[in-house]
Amino acid sequence: MFEEKIDGFPEGFLWGGAIAANQVEGGWNEGGKGLSTADMAIFKKDLKPEEYSKHYTITNQQIEQAMQATDAADYPKRRGIDFYHHYKDDIALFAEMGFKVLRFSIAWTRIFPTGVEPEPNESGLQFYDDLIDELLRNNIQPLVTLSHYEMPMYLVNQFGGWSDRRTLDCFERFTLAVLKRYGKKVKYWLTFNEIDSIIRHPFTTGGIVPERYPAERLENIIYQALHHQFVASALAVKHCRRLSPDSKIGCMLTRLLTYPQSCAPEDVLLAGRENQLNYFFSDVQIRGRYPRHMLRRFSEKGLQIDTRPGDEEILSQHRVDFISISYYMSLVTSVNADKMDKVGGNIAGGVKNPYLKTTEWDWQIDPVGLRIALNDLYDRYQIPVFVVENGMGAVDTPDGQGVIRDDYRIAYFQSHLQQMKEAVKDGVELLGYTSWAPIDLISASTSEMNKRYGFIYVDQDNQGNGTLRRSRKKSFHWYQDVIRSNGAGL
Ligand code: BG6
Repeated sequence: MFEEKIDGFPEGFLWGGAIAANQVEGGWNEGGKGLSTADMAIFKKDLKPEEYSKHYTITNQQIEQAMQATDAADYPKRRGIDFYHHYKDDIALFAEMGFKVLRFSIAWTRIFPTGVEPEPNESGLQFYDDLIDELLRNNIQPLVTLSHYEMPMYLVNQFGGWSDRRTLDCFERFTLAVLKRYGKKVKYWLTFNEIDSIIRHPFTTGGIVPERYPAERLENIIYQALHHQFVASALAVKHCRRLSPDSKIGCMLTRLLTYPQSCAPEDVLLAGRENQLNYFFSDVQIRGRYPRHMLRRFSEKGLQIDTRPGDEEILSQHRVDFISISYYMSLVTSVNADKMDKVGGNIAGGVKNPYLKTTEWDWQIDPVGLRIALNDLYDRYQIPVFVVENGMGAVDTPDGQGVIRDDYRIAYFQSHLQQMKEAVKDGVELLGYTSWAPIDLISASTSEMNKRYGFIYVDQDNQGNGTLRRSRKKSFHWYQDVIRSNGAGL
């Protein structure tokens, strides 16, 4: 009557790594690529890493300067790690680790340089064709994110980014071009990376420049842009069913697990509300409608979202097949947060958790939280889950022989994978795990190179000096063993 107990990761579990176009590719002005929001991201030398949100903000003046800049000197995301020219060698290293899957994103501006062209740019399409073919030759499945923290600057300057419905139409054209071209080769898709992040950094996620709007309207503008992304995500699901019929398509959420600081009911309620707010983003894409608590929030705040007739049907009819998450940390909240010690670096800031250690960037390390988050997600939605980002940023220093002995990184991954295995044994249907990131890359928030995530070291510093040579860290061999044994030894 009962199924037998689950001992570990299922056969065919998708082990691999995750990267994003704007953090690795470089080649910012090659192959006909247009300027994107990521090309505006200036390296702010004087900011402390823990000033997380300030790293992401942008002013009109900074945009004007960046639009004029003709090199990559102050704009590390323009150079990335030159994956554009090194992808074959990098894929060979991923294959050596035994990867079954690589998560990467497609830069919209390679396919539609300004976003409004009637036809896609063949050279951009060809680049991803070659990349996908190289992966498949190495028995690595592509997991493609349609939108990861970038969009054409033309749409930002002409339309105000995602706040304008016309951007949705342009994105639908991009989605169709990509699905038509790669639909038969790609088995796993994601729509928007961390769709919830538009609330924390509206420019990076939605192409919204805050100072272009009256401060009191900004929140409304952001939720309007988010609505357009929800509809765009549902339309991508719709087109995927036709153009990539053998594939699965998922949504992607920054899982910001929040604990109450105490068992005071007010703290528990507040933490519950934070978690509910975090789930709002996946609720829409999985349940196909806005949850009622958000409608209450909108009405209490006087926010009005313009919708078109048909939007509700689009959302309800085209729901994702699976949910994917990034998980880096947990958070703590309290009604008395003002009087408590804070953790500055955490994505959403928050109260310090005395039971947890932090990374050098002040992100709280909580492996058990991953097990809790996975169980919660699966209980809530009962659809497969994919962990598509998890990892730690650290400064790596080579030893006398030039080797990075990154035991701290191994310890981080080991503890998280052990808890992930427990979640699988708890019954969570887990499709796979892609570490962030298998290779050192440019940090999304701080645009640093020094904040290293990889199993593969890349010789490049914050200023872009270095040979770009790739080398294996100690963790490379450790992860290779994990994959080889399908996590048996964890
Ligand atoms: C996630 C993003 O939020 O966190 C990635 O999807 C990002 O793009 C990762 O790189 C780690 O953040 P950071 O700022 O350390 O690069």
